[in-house]
Amino acid sequence: MSERSGTLADDPFGGRHPTSHERLTGLPWDASYQDGPAPWDVGQPQPAIVRLASEGGFAGAVLDAGCGTGENALHVASLGLSVLGVDVAETALATARAKADDRGIEVKFASADAFELERLGRRFETVLDCGLFHTFVGDERPGYVASLARVTKHDGTLYMLCFSDDGPDTGPHPIRQEELRTAFSPSNGWNVAAIEPGRIETRYHDDGAPAWFATIKRI
Ligand SMILES: C[S@@+](CC[C@H](N)C(=O)[O-])C[C@H]1O[C@@H](n2cnc3c(N)ncnc32)[C@H](O)[C@@H]1O
Repeated sequence: MSERSGTLADDPFGGRHPTSHERLTGLPWDASYQDGPAPWDVGQPQPAIVRLASEGGFAGAVLDAGCGTGENALHVASLGLSVLGVDVAETALATARAKADDRGIEVKFASADAFELERLGRRFETVLDCGLFHTFVGDERPGYVASLARVTKHDGTLYMLCFSDDGPDTGPHPIRQEELRTAFSPSNGWNVAAIEPGRIETRYHDDGAPAWFATIKRI
C-alpha cells in the first residue's frame, strides 16, 4: 500500500498505535500544537532541567523523549552536548527545528514513537523525559519503560520530570512515587536513585505544578 494513496496517508496517527491520551481526545498529539502554544509549552526550558544542566547532570549523547517544541533539548544542546529530541508531533518538531536555526544551536529533532525507540538505531548515556511518562496510563508504561531501556546505555541515567500527587493544584495525571518505583525496578533493568519534589511550569499554573524529579539509573 502506498503511503501517499493508502491508509497510512489518511491515518492521523501515521500507522502508530494511538496513545491513551489520543484515544481519549480522539486527536493525535500534533493537534495540541496546531492552534497556539500547548498548555505545557512555556517557551523556555523547565527550571529543574536548567538547574540539572548547570550541575553537570547531562553527559554523553542525550535523548529527549517527547521533546515537544524542544526548549529543554535546545538548552542542553546549547551547553555543547550532543542532543536528539524525538516526538510524534510533526508540528512541534518543525517549531523545534526553526528555533534551533534561529538560535544557531546544533541539535537534532526527529519523528519517533517512544514505544519503539530502538528504531533510532543508537543508544544514549542520558535520557530526559519531561512530561511524557505522566501522559501514559498504567498498561502503557511497561512498553514505554522497555523501549527506554533498549536505548539507554548501561550505567546511563534517565531523568524524569512528571506531575506529582504531592500538594494542591496538581497537574492532570498526577503520579505517585510508588508508581515510579513500580515502573522502574531492578527486574526490568532500572534502579531508582532519587525522587525529589519539584515543580513543572505550565501555562496555567502561576508557580508551576507539583512534580517529581526522578533520577533513574540503567543497570
Ligand atoms: C506534555 S508534552 C511535553 C513536551 C516537552 N517535553 C515539554 O516539556 O514541553 C508530551 C509530549 O510527548 C509527545 N508524545 C506523546 N506520545 C508520544 C510517543 N508515543 N512518542 C513520542 N512522543 C510522544 C507529545 O507529542 C508531546 O509533545
